[in-house]
Formats: sequence, C-alpha cells, structure tokens
Amino acid sequence: MYRGRRLRKNPVIRNMMKETRLDKSELIYPLFIVEGDNIKEEIASMPNVYHYSIDRLHEVLDEMISCGIFSCILFGIPAHKDETGSQAYASDGIVQRAIRFIKAYDERFYVIGDVCMCEYTSHGHCGILDEHHDVDNDATLPVLSKIAVSYALAGIDMVAPSDMMDGHIKALREALDEAGFTNVAIMGYSAKFASSYYGPFREAADSAPCFGDRKSYQMDYANGQEAQREILADIEEGADIVMVKPALCYLDIVARAKEHIHTPICVYNVSGEYSMLMQAIYAGLMKEDVIYESVLSMKRAGADMIITYFALYLAQLIDEGG
Ligand code: PBG
Ligand code: ZN
Repeated sequence: MYRGRRLRKNPVIRNMMKETRLDKSELIYPLFIVEGDNIKEEIASMPNVYHYSIDRLHEVLDEMISCGIFSCILFGIPAHKDETGSQAYASDGIVQRAIRFIKAYDERFYVIGDVCMCEYTSHGHCGILDEHHDVDNDATLPVLSKIAVSYALAGIDMVAPSDMMDGHIKALREALDEAGFTNVAIMGYSAKFASSYYGPFREAADSAPCFGDRKSYQMDYANGQEAQREILADIEEGADIVMVKPALCYLDIVARAKEHIHTPICVYNVSGEYSMLMQAIYAGLMKEDVIYESVLSMKRAGADMIITYFALYLAQLIDEGG
C-alpha cells in the first residue's frame, strides 16, 4: 500500500519533502506615494498599508531594509489630474521624484514603476479617450512611452505597463531603446483581468473610472485561452517578464503558461486578496497562517516572483523559519 504518511512523520522529514518555499528575493512590495509633506496615512481599506509623502518615504525604506526586501513597485497619486494625465510623465512628477529619492537613499533598491494613466486622468480610465469616450489604443501608446522614458530618466530599473493597451510592450521597448535605455527591463501586465479584486487599490490610488468600466481593455475572467494569447503577444513584443493578475483566482492561468513559455512569470497578489485575508484574520475566522498558505500556492502554480502587500510580513516570517 502507498503510505504517504511515512514522509510526514516529523518536521525534519516534512521539511526535507517540501517542494516549494518562499524566498524573500522573489517578493516585490508595492508603495503608494502622495504629494504633500509629513504624510504617513493608513489606507482605510488596506490595514498596515500606507500612503507616504516623499519626505517620510525613508520610514518604509528602512523597514524594507531591515526585513531584507529590496524591490518595490511604485504607484503615484498626483495633486492634479487632467484629461490627458500629464502629471504621469512630468519630470518632477510624484513617481519620478520618488524614484530619484529611493535610488539616492540606498542603491541596493531595485525600483519598478507601474506605467498607467488611471491615477492621473480626470476620468480615471487607463488611456486617452476618443470622441465616443472610448479609450483610444493607438493615441495612448505614445503617452505610455513618454511615461516610461520619464521614469528611465529618473533612474528606474524596470517599467511595468498595467494599461492593457495592445502593442504597448513594443511601443515602450522602442521608446526606451531610442532614448538609450536598452537595459531598462519591461514587465508586462500581460493577463490582467477586469476584476472586482482591485476595489481597495482604486480607493488607495484614487483611480476608479468615473464612468463605465475597464472591460473594453482588461480581460474577461471567463477566458483562459485568451490569457495565453495575451502572454505570447507580450513575449513576442519583447517583455522580459510577464504577469498574471489577480493571483488567487487565476493560478490555472499561471500553471498553463508555465507549461509552454520560457519567460519568467510574475503574479500580482492584489489589494482585494490582501484585504479579504486581513479581514478574515481580524474577524477571527482564520489563523494568520492562511497568508503563507495563500502566497505559497502562487509559487507552487509556477510563479517566479510575487508582488504582494504581505511582503514585509512574509519576510519576517521567513526569518523566523517559516
Ligand atoms: C492601474 C492598476 C490597478 C492595479 C494595479 N495597477 C487597478 C486597476 O486596473 O484598476 C491593481 C492593484 C491592486 O488591486 O492591488 N492600472
Ligand atoms: Zn490603469
């Protein structure tokens, strides 16, 4: 008889049998940066996640350093929004200043910049609108390219376009190369689904669309095969890393992609996934262990790296031995 229990007898053998582990080096921590002074404000929908103004950003950077987490992805909340999201590519924009600050603060940090327009447009959509109030794909590409180049000028290591426009990876690669930034990497939000799990983020980033929804550019969550097409298109256009987002409900997409692509895969463990677990823990419905279990499942499915609001918590847990 097959006796699986033989190899579960005590912690030594159980640890020897572990097929997957989380490592700090593959965790990416999202940071929300706001204009103004002396701001460290907890985001109501996301316990323990804060808005920082640049003059207090060192507080979270110090926490990251002490946890051993050195990569972050930046989201900016500008003071002014307009139709064309012009603050997104301003050389003194909030993200551009944050990049310069972080790089000067400690050169060990690897800084990723989310490239999108929804935090910067007055209408809250991820691109330029046409006369029918649709997002105009090809008119948006040059703006996204400008954002990416402005981040590169500020010293970014990697750009991550989250807009879901067609052809965006190619447009960004060409713009970056032309500006001399051949070594700035691109991580495509390749299979990004139109998901209710972004709810808390939209409050945090003040980026909810003021009319309509994102279903004409983000993917239909019914579609697994189309996700593979999106992933392949981004790889063909030159993405260095592809992403699946959200993570938990979409691990089948990750596992499927892992079987046929040879490009690193990132998953975004999004705001709603974070808030959901935090609320369940606060309500006493589940033990804190549910966090490690959930994030580890992303690795097991095939993710090579994970963007997660739990990064600092997990780093401490890993230090304590899992
Ligand atoms: C903006 C963007 C979103 C997220 C990352 N970049 C939200 C959206 O598309 O509305 C979601 C992140 C999260 O929920 O944690 N394009
Ligand atoms: Zn957007």
